[in-house]
Amino acid sequence: MSQDIEEVKRIFIERFGSEPLVIRAPGRINIIGEHTDYNDGFVLPAAIDLAVYLFIQKSDTDRSKLMALNLDESYSFCTQDALVPVKQDWVNFFLGVIDQFQIAGHNIEGFNLMFTSDIPIGSGLSSSAALECGFGQALSELFDLQVDKVELAKMGQAAEHKFAGVKCGIMDQFASCMGRQDHVVKLDCRSLEYEFYPADFKDYELVLFDSNVKHNLADSQYNIRRSQCEEGVKVIQFINSSVASLRDATLDDLARAQSEMEEVVYRRCKYVIEENIRVQAVCKALQCGNIEEVGNLLLETHKGLRDDYEVSCKELDTLIEIASARDGHIGGRMMGGGFGGCTINLIEKRKVNDVITEVTKRYHEILGIETKVYRVAIANGVGRYN
Ligand code: GLA
Repeated sequence: MSQDIEEVKRIFIERFGSEPLVIRAPGRINIIGEHTDYNDGFVLPAAIDLAVYLFIQKSDTDRSKLMALNLDESYSFCTQDALVPVKQDWVNFFLGVIDQFQIAGHNIEGFNLMFTSDIPIGSGLSSSAALECGFGQALSELFDLQVDKVELAKMGQAAEHKFAGVKCGIMDQFASCMGRQDHVVKLDCRSLEYEFYPADFKDYELVLFDSNVKHNLADSQYNIRRSQCEEGVKVIQFINSSVASLRDATLDDLARAQSEMEEVVYRRCKYVIEENIRVQAVCKALQCGNIEEVGNLLLETHKGLRDDYEVSCKELDTLIEIASARDGHIGGRMMGGGFGGCTINLIEKRKVNDVITEVTKRYHEILGIETKVYRVAIANGVGRYN
């Protein structure tokens, strides 16, 4: 990517006549802790070496221009106008972030911006969170606002709620803002306390297989899951009034509330409560260097997401099935919101190439779809690109 950066800088200077500030904002993976963030629970994500790059400079007028180089689209507006969601999806991430800055009392003057990205869109690697966080950091630096990174993550999340209509949790934005090279971050999504763990998988490597599909029910089903969890909490509260969210509930609370609950709501809650337990177990296993145990827990998560939370799909299940059957694959699961995107897998280093070859071949044979493979490295969170 670094060569392209110089090229884009040149294009920027040619177009706008001044040297841009360059910000890099990474995508993310998540080891475990899926659909737990909006239930005040625990997650274990990391920022990766695929990123969005934003080039920005003041325009010295009240007009702003956004240019999406990958899409060959642009959008002009006045930051002083009332901001409302527009038709071009990608523009909404920017408008949503400006809206958050304005709510926080910052005056955003005109600017010119270009961006490019090597995060594949729709792969569940959070390209949208990267855009929000990268743009937040860009505004903060350009106008010397010194917004801290946890605050930026919260603004990105709020922007997504208000301008993209997805009631997401904080995980993606937090990972993109706060990630640390070679570490995974265990985040308590209620208190936002966090702790880094070395991403040391010993003899194993993390490999992502991209299903290359994105079913368009993803956003609507996401919001439905969220409200089913809230519904479950309301029922559990009759049994245990100290439960404010599923993070507080135990399997015992749930068992006692089961008869008062719709069966589907019960399964959603069961998955989330079990998943929070698994995050703690993975952290322990990582500390002990027991990577085989991490692998087992990932497979458990996949089953939960497939059968109880029902956010998987045929393509993701196929990828996991084929990979698990191979020697050297010790665990994997669908990653992110679901209904497409990637699986995350732990594969013995000396067998990685064999497993990749076989999974790629079989996936195409069975479904007629090409998979893409990402062997990502764990990188730092958002910041200035030098
Ligand atoms: C999406 C959301 C996150 C999180 C995951 C599922 O990536 O943006 O907040 O809820 O799904 O874990």
